[in-house]
Formats: sequence, structure tokens, C-alpha cells
Amino acid sequence: MKIENTVTRLLQIEYPLFMAPMFLVSNENMIKAAIHSGIMGVFPTLNFREKGELEQVLNRIKAYKNQHPEEKGNYGVNLIVQQTSTKFEEHLKICVKQKVPFYITSLGKPDKVIEEAHSYGGKVFCDVTNIEHAEKCAKLGCDGFIAVGQGAGGHAGPYPLHILIPALKNHFPEIPIIAAGGIATGSSILSMLCLGAEGASLGTRFIASTEASVNDEYKKAIVNYGMKDIVLSSRLSGTPSSVIRTKDAEKLGYFKTGFLENLFNKNKTTKKYYRMLLQLKSMKIMKESTEKGAYKKIWSAGQSVELIDSISNIDDIVKKLTHDMEESYEVLKKALHP
Ligand SMILES: Cc1cc2nc3c(=O)[nH]c(=O)nc-3n(C[C@H](O)[C@H](O)[C@H](O)COP(=O)(O)O)c2cc1C
Repeated sequence: MKIENTVTRLLQIEYPLFMAPMFLVSNENMIKAAIHSGIMGVFPTLNFREKGELEQVLNRIKAYKNQHPEEKGNYGVNLIVQQTSTKFEEHLKICVKQKVPFYITSLGKPDKVIEEAHSYGGKVFCDVTNIEHAEKCAKLGCDGFIAVGQGAGGHAGPYPLHILIPALKNHFPEIPIIAAGGIATGSSILSMLCLGAEGASLGTRFIASTEASVNDEYKKAIVNYGMKDIVLSSRLSGTPSSVIRTKDAEKLGYFKTGFLENLFNKNKTTKKYYRMLLQLKSMKIMKESTEKGAYKKIWSAGQSVELIDSISNIDDIVKKLTHDMEESYEVLKKALHP
């Protein structure tokens, strides 16, 4: 199915589909596979925290892209714009030096990213979960929104996409919207286009890919768990994010609000340091959970686990999504004109 729209033209991609950035999951091979498959591959810069690592990875991805002009995908990075994100300034500088073509910002105020990226023609889409934050990003001149709705992996939004997307469209008719959260099939992508989105961003679906650098247990969990097993927990980062309700997550109290949490959250300063501490602790546990032979199972995923039934390579996943989208389009036409 050929789709050409504002987003495919703006970001120079074949399909308006994004492989969403995923902490501890996204890697260099996944990004190259996304470029190969004609979609936008995005990774969090925080996946490359060692000295010099991010620059080397960006160099290799850029070289790959230049060596394969026939491959119609593109790449970008995700920057977490938050006071507690210690690497933000350093990573932004590296990305700008490397002229990264695309950015997704999450959380805080994205002014610096937009200004720096636009200085050389880079494009910036901002994660938004409500109209108020979208308003701020629009005023700062973002190029698009990633509308993150209910059921998403990572920091899920509070609203269903069936409301958030048309609402964003009403308020900002000129700004392209990419739908994110709970999308794992061709028919869901098509439904997002019907709502007014220009494309879709999928995270959880790509955890169950052969290229993802997480252990097989985590990939199998994406196939075997269902939507009933996904719970929001504030214990990972201080902001509610989706976690699989494994026995380990229960045991470690991921679904309870503790006395200390309530106490620290009462004061702005203690809240900030408590969040930093939580993030460091969770990062360690989650990293261990993604490694080979891990004995802990703290895994992040969205409700679309319900719809994922295989571990496949990224090219096959994209082919199936675009094929199913076309099939769903035929079903829709028949439903409208029986
Ligand atoms: C394991 C995992 C890690 C994630 N890490 C990040 C991250 O580092 N930065 C970010 O902006 N979003 C992150 N997300 C959210 C995704 O970028 C995307 O918005 C989300 O996965 C879309 O919902 P879906 O998982 O239902 O497809 C993460 C999601 C998952 C599942």
C-alpha cells in the first residue's frame, strides 16, 4: 500500500509509521532495519550513555543511510526534556553536531531542541497527552505531535486516541499528528488515519522483534501476556508508566504507593530528588531484567500485548502491518458500500 502524505514528505519516509523510541530496547540494528523497511526508526539517546557511544552510533547510522539510498526509511532520536534528565544538554549537542534529521521530545519544555534542530533543517515532533501541553509545543514551533493515548507502553496518556486525535486536530488543524498507544495491527493504523492522524508510532509491537536486544523471556512475555496484565506504576520513574504485572513486579511493590513516596512528593525539592533516585534504581533493575539469564522480570509494555502473537523480524512486521492495513481498507469499503 502506497501512502504519501504530509508526514512521509516532511520526514522523507515511505510509510508514515514510526518505530517508537524505547528505553533499554531500541538499538542500532533496529534503526537500520527501520530504514530498510521504509519507516522512521527512533531511539532514546539514553540507551547510549557511555562516553563517545552516542556519537559513534549516530555516525554508523548516518553512514548506513548514505550507503543505502534505495532504502526509504529514516532515523531520529528521542530526548527526554526533564530536569532530572542529566544527559540532556550533552546529548542534544552531539545530535546537533551530527545533524540528526528527526527528534521526538518527551516530558518538559522542548524549546532548545526545536531551536537547535531547526537551525539546520532537523524536524521535531513532541509527545503530547493533552491539549495544554500541545499548545505549548505548538507555540514553540514544533513540526508535529505524537499523540500518546491510553494503553501505551511507557508513559501512557490519560485519554483514548479516539478523543485525543480529533481534539488535537480541532485545535491545531495545521500540525501533523502521529498516533501512539495500543497500536499493533494494520486495522488500528487505518483507524488512526480515519480519526485525522497522519501516521502511527508503535513501541510494544517492536519489542517482540528478532532485532530487539532484550532477552527472549521479555519477547515471549509480549506474546504471552494480555491486556489484563498491564498496570500503571509510578515506581519506575515517578510518573505513571505501563508495566507487565509479573510476580517480581508485585513482590517489589510496583503497584503500591508507599509511605516514603507520599512523604517526598509533598515537597517540590524532595519530590525531584526522590524521582531521580527512583529512576536510577529502576533503571538498574529494568536493565538487569532485559539481559540474558536475568532472574528478575520487571518489564515495560503497553496494552497492545493483547494483539501480538509472534516474534518476527522488523521487515516482516512492517510488511504485515502495511498488508493488513490494505486488507482492512477493503473490508471498510465493503462495510460502507455492501
Ligand atoms: C519498553 C518501552 C520503553 C519506552 N521508552 C521510552 C523512552 O525512553 N522515551 C519515550 O519518549 N518513550 C518511551 N516509550 C514510549 C514509546 O516511545 C511509545 O510512545 C509507546 O511505546 C507507544 O505505545 P505502544 O507501546 O502501545 O505502541 C517506551 C515504551 C516502551 C514499551
